[in-house]
Formats: sequence, structure tokens, C-alpha cells
Amino acid sequence: MQTQADPVVSQAGPASTGARIPIWLELNGRPFDIEIDPWVTLLDLLREHADLTGVKKGCDHGQCGACTVLLEGKRVNSCLMLAVVADGAKITTIEGLAAADGTLDPLQQAFIDHDAFQCGYCTPGQICSARALISEGRAKCRDDVRQLMSGNLCRCGAYSNITDAIVDVMQLRPQPQSQPRKAAP
Ligand code: FES
Ligand code: FES
Repeated sequence: MQTQADPVVSQAGPASTGARIPIWLELNGRPFDIEIDPWVTLLDLLREHADLTGVKKGCDHGQCGACTVLLEGKRVNSCLMLAVVADGAKITTIEGLAAADGTLDPLQQAFIDHDAFQCGYCTPGQICSARALISEGRAKCRDDVRQLMSGNLCRCGAYSNITDAIVDVMQLRPQPQSQPRKAAP
């Protein structure tokens, strides 16, 4: 007989209780509906149920930013959000940033132009986070960009080039230590 103290998740991993919850999302501009166990994170839904493996699982507990996606245009760590909480929301992942004709988002192009990645594992989260950062409008200089991107870790240490790429798209005045890619406005 199961008691209140019995764990819902066994050591062998989550077991479905049969109490799946129907949810609907707009994923990269397309409707997506599914019945999902209530403990499934948005990250696992995206990767394991929607084949959006551009979203990366790093720490799985809100420390690295690799899982960053846009929810209604705002950046969220998808590993920290239950999929059922996102019901009805518009979600954009790295796969949804390019235009329909394949033209890259300016941030994607800037990351290429500035060699802003090495292994690339953190890159989808970095770019999604940067896309939201620009929309937020709080970054006024390079140091702001560095600070407001601090939730996204890059273990390869590509930070300088990542910042260069974002600053380039924002058309902020480069500081002396970075290689200017454009004439200052
Ligand atoms: Fe979500 Fe690290 S995987 S913050
Ligand atoms: Fe490798 Fe960022 S490019 S972790």
C-alpha cells in the first residue's frame, strides 16, 4: 500500500501515473499539443518530445543557461520550468530564430562572424539569451552586455567574442580592447 511518504519517482526513474495533462504550445510559430506527465520540464519536452535538440541540457538546475529559450519573448531557463506551466505560451528556440527563407537571425550571423563559439554547446542558449537581452533594452554598453549575459556560462571561454558579437548587433560603440568590426556611429 502506498503511503504519503512513498516517492512518486522511483530510483529507476520517473514512472507515469497515467495522470498526464494535455497542454498546447506555440513552438517556433507552429502549434504543438501533447499530453505530458506533470513533472516533465519544458527542457525535456522540447528535446525529447518535440525534437528541438538545439536546446541544450547542461547543469539541469538553473546554473549554466545552456537551456535558455524565449517564452513570450522573455528568456527562461527551460530546465527550471515545468512544461505544464508553459501551457498556452509562445516558445521560441534556436531553431526558430532564422527567417522562413533560411536567413539567419543577425545574432546567429554575428556569432559566426566573430567566432563566438568553440564547442558550441552553450551557443543556442547564448543566442536566445542575447536576443531577449536586446529586447529588454537595458544594455547600454559593453559592460552591461557582459553583466546581463552572466547567466550564460561558456566553459570554452569564448566570452570576449560572444560579447563582441552581441555588441556588434546592438551597434554599441566598441571599447578599445575589442577589435572594431564596424565604424563607430
Ligand atoms: Fe538549464 Fe543549466 S541546463 S541552466
Ligand atoms: Fe563551448 Fe560555450 S562554446 S561551452
